[in-house]
Amino acid sequence: MIPQSFIQDLLARTDIVDLIGQYVPLKKSGANFFACCPFHDEKSASFSVSPSKQFFHCFGCGAHGSAIGFLMQYSGLGFADAVAQIAGQAGLQVPDDVRSRTGERQRHEPALTEMLATAAAHFRARLRDSQRAIDYLKGRGLSGRIAQQYGIGYAPAGWQTLADAFPDYQDPRLLEAGLVIENDQGRRYDRFRDRIMFPIHDARGNVIGFGGRIIDKGEPKYMNSPETPVFEKGRELYGQLQARDAIRNHGSVIVVEGYMDVVSLAQFGVDNAVATLGTATTPTHVQRLLRSSERVVFCFDGDAAGRRAARRALEASLEHLRDDRGVAFLFLPSEHDPDSFVRAEGAQTFLDAAARATPLATLLEEQLAEDIDFDTAEGRARYAHSAQPLVTRIAAPLLRLQVLKRTAERAGLSQAELEQSYGLDQSGGEPVRKPGAPGPRRTRWPSRSRRITRPPEDTLLRMVLLHPHLVSRIRSDGIPADTDAGRALLALIDADGLGELPIRGGLGALLEFFRDTPHEETLRATAATTEENLFDESALESLFSDTLHKLHEIALGAEFSGLQATLNSGGRLSPEQLKRYGELLRERQTRAGGHGEADS
Ligand code: UTP
Ligand code: MN
Repeated sequence: MIPQSFIQDLLARTDIVDLIGQYVPLKKSGANFFACCPFHDEKSASFSVSPSKQFFHCFGCGAHGSAIGFLMQYSGLGFADAVAQIAGQAGLQVPDDVRSRTGERQRHEPALTEMLATAAAHFRARLRDSQRAIDYLKGRGLSGRIAQQYGIGYAPAGWQTLADAFPDYQDPRLLEAGLVIENDQGRRYDRFRDRIMFPIHDARGNVIGFGGRIIDKGEPKYMNSPETPVFEKGRELYGQLQARDAIRNHGSVIVVEGYMDVVSLAQFGVDNAVATLGTATTPTHVQRLLRSSERVVFCFDGDAAGRRAARRALEASLEHLRDDRGVAFLFLPSEHDPDSFVRAEGAQTFLDAAARATPLATLLEEQLAEDIDFDTAEGRARYAHSAQPLVTRIAAPLLRLQVLKRTAERAGLSQAELEQSYGLDQSGGEPVRKPGAPGPRRTRWPSRSRRITRPPEDTLLRMVLLHPHLVSRIRSDGIPADTDAGRALLALIDADGLGELPIRGGLGALLEFFRDTPHEETLRATAATTEENLFDESALESLFSDTLHKLHEIALGAEFSGLQATLNSGGRLSPEQLKRYGELLRERQTRAGGHGEADS
């Protein structure tokens, strides 16, 4: 874990305008800076960077976040790597003692990635010497330009040819980098022999491993680097470096299974493809993909194995879905993989097919409905039952609601019935509070108004995000704990009470403070939909006190209803409770008899 204090320090010292300005040409207009959004294709400048909020937001595609968030989305870096990069620019050292995994990586990284880069250069040079390897690549339709772009090389057939590139063949780091194998007698030999070599890069361009394909026939067809401190297969994707700009320009990424699929698609001009590395798609993969792209299209063979792999990718996606991003599945005719398909049918046919790929929710429904007899109660019940673990994991709230509705429909239940049997509350959203947890459900007071407006806690949260100093004036007792905005406010109040709430780093810093907490999404979504000048400065103070007042009234209403419910159900009130009930009742009567409806 990187300590929060360091993150806050870093953000206070980093100007988001400078940082983003390194990647995107920003133009000042009024208080903010604007550009064409780097995260989607557009002609007008909807991408705005606010120096006062230290926050960026695209009005077109909704991308938003802090300086750290920008770098993560822009270059597909993980959180720790993005922090490390910004820290480097700010001349700060990420604290050492608590570096955990990142530290592990960073200690090993220079040496291992340097060795791997040396090996990659060696393989490229050997490719130039080997007519047989060149012929093989030509035979597969690859041009010299693509081979160069992907750094493709050739590992010669000898046992210790790497000794040419590494004078100390006994260097322990050669073993650690996975370039050599040691047998029982301690004798070393090259891992990759007589193979076409595909270097695997991380998002920063370091070589972190290799895939080696045998020339022509033989077993195993592909040999891969083992996992090392710099290479974790479940995180990395082949071709991410080369595809980065194309992914940003297209706003979509195509995920295939093989090295050859990626380079062959690129050869045909489909340059936004990446591949998993001989492993199933992991949630980390999906998280990374959705960070850098609005649309992820998984491409699988049309056979049974392809359907199984798709199902795993679908499951890995659920917890990272967002309502502003899409995941879809493209199934190729069973005789084809992407390489052979693009060769046979051409790039346009492939792209058209990708554009028409099956949306995740559709595939989910198809897969669940397989072998279900909807004419029987048992079949419909089984359908609803097997849907539960999948539907409830969908992280995108609106999509989850859609899928719930559809599942209920097919199962012959009402949405409310399905939600109840899944243990969801009636908003289709969050799992219901555990029994015994605090808080009666909130009743509005007065309840006559049927106008739908923003709940006051939501307004309050928006005010606080723009003016964090207001937090210190909010008391937690009027804040409802049964809404997302309410819970986020309570967390802000808590942090402020501990003197931890970041204020100087702006909104960006505030959001980073809540990264990886349950409030992250609420805060991000609220921040992104809050205009900077939403509140007229001159009216801010009165709106703030009105909102606090409204919340107070609602809390009193809930208290009253609670007491009344106890009485109505024949329960007893303590003398203090009875007294309180009388007070509330009188106040209520005064209000009802006095001025008219003032609530909104
Ligand atoms: P495929 O067998 O589909 O390979 O394996 P491919 O990409 O179509 O290769 P070509 O066209 O025959 O050259 C897909 C992926 O599975 C992993 C590799 O990552 C490969 O790209 N794999 C496959 C291995 O790791 N080892 C193997 O022996 C085979
Ligand atoms: Mn193939």
